[in-house]
Amino acid sequence: MAVRTPIELDRGRIAELTAREAKVLDANTAASGVMYARANHVLSGGVASSYQLRDPWPIYLERGAGSQVWDVDGTQMIDFHNGFGSMVQGHAHPVITQAVTERMSQGTHFAAPTEDAIVVAEELQRRWNLPQWRYTNSGSEATMDAIRIARAATGRDTIIKIFGSYHGHHDYVMVSIGVDYASIGDRENYASLPYGSGIPQAVSDMTIAVPFNDAPAMERRIERLAAEGRLPACVIMEAAMMNLGVVLPEPGYLEAVRAITKKHGIILIFDEVKTGMTIAAGGAVEKFGVLPDMVTLAKALGGGLPIGAIGGTDEAMESVRNGAVYQVGTYNGNPLGMAAARANLLEVMTPAAYAHLDQLNDFMLDGCSAVLEKYNLPGYTVGISSKGCVTFAKDPIVDYESFKAQQDGELCDLAWLYNMNRGVFMTPGREEEWTLSIQHSLEDCDRFVSAFEEMAADLTA
Ligand SMILES: Cc1ncc(COP(=O)(O)O)c(C=O)c1O
Repeated sequence: MAVRTPIELDRGRIAELTAREAKVLDANTAASGVMYARANHVLSGGVASSYQLRDPWPIYLERGAGSQVWDVDGTQMIDFHNGFGSMVQGHAHPVITQAVTERMSQGTHFAAPTEDAIVVAEELQRRWNLPQWRYTNSGSEATMDAIRIARAATGRDTIIKIFGSYHGHHDYVMVSIGVDYASIGDRENYASLPYGSGIPQAVSDMTIAVPFNDAPAMERRIERLAAEGRLPACVIMEAAMMNLGVVLPEPGYLEAVRAITKKHGIILIFDEVKTGMTIAAGGAVEKFGVLPDMVTLAKALGGGLPIGAIGGTDEAMESVRNGAVYQVGTYNGNPLGMAAARANLLEVMTPAAYAHLDQLNDFMLDGCSAVLEKYNLPGYTVGISSKGCVTFAKDPIVDYESFKAQQDGELCDLAWLYNMNRGVFMTPGREEEWTLSIQHSLEDCDRFVSAFEEMAADLTA
């Protein structure tokens, strides 16, 4: 990152542009407004998942093809949201569509084993270098079951996660994320705070959060827990945090975490629900070269169908193999999802596909960096293969605390509005990044960079 002194932004100008752009978006998405009003009569809060909410209404989509989506007002946009990072294949990929269509006509669900489940596991074994696999139907199920397996393998209850990291919506991990910042406690001793109502404090208390990119702090916390007689079963973490924009591991951090967890007999789980298949064929394990005891996958694995997976060493997965842990589910290994995953892994997400993603992301990162420099805005770009973001912060964000201290949320909100009004469909929320698909082109990416430049020019006019 080049050292430069960025301009001080005029907050009044940000507010003025935000109001202007919000008005334009409301006018352009009237049909979504009508649909939201209707949805409120039947769906709690008007949506299928609370993460789809947006004020004054969510944008309802009608269809997608390749890199494009269309909303219910008929507006065509280039999709950088990609289903919260799932659709790295692009929409309605012909190979996946054909595989799913063929499977449809042969029956979609038996709750009995099928060959595709073996083929997919063989490919996952090859990509992740982990021998044993099981399936789930979502990322949350994958992390929930992985933690149970780790608890069974170690005979311990306490678990460690990274403060501010998201691992799904079950009670074990809805802890120390999205919580009242004033109550998080000190860095050496973060509080275990439930994320939302309905989560028992007794369950939250079993989940201990530590800061990202700080292996010594993790080790100190483990040693204190050991002294209290509650050595953790596992550390569950993303190798690169994907919910504070993108926060990369600092050199040596993952290796240190691997060494610490080995030393204490703690199972290391890389949650690759977001990074799996999207940052390399073998996800973060391939990209960063550190092998955990277990990984969890979902999102991009199913090519748009809801499946997840857990991979592990023979030792970590022994309790599943010998039947001590019931890792079960009616839809686990569902034939439709497996057909999609098989086509996805074997025919779509090929080495050429990853080379294309790298090329596109370089273009996005270079283009956005050039805009930041040209207009001397506070911020920097960070990305890895299909994922990236502009981080609006004066100093680098390395963990949750620096994110809270540094991120310019108002600018994030404004950038989102600029994108949406210029045919760039982006994830709402200040924590998200872009996800490119293999069906994106350089022209698509240029649209993103141009919208960003327009905002930069207006901000500094
Ligand atoms: C890292 C990570 N783990 C787990 C999950 C949960 O996955 P799902 O929403 O499929 O339950 C998510 C979802 O965003 C995630 O980002």
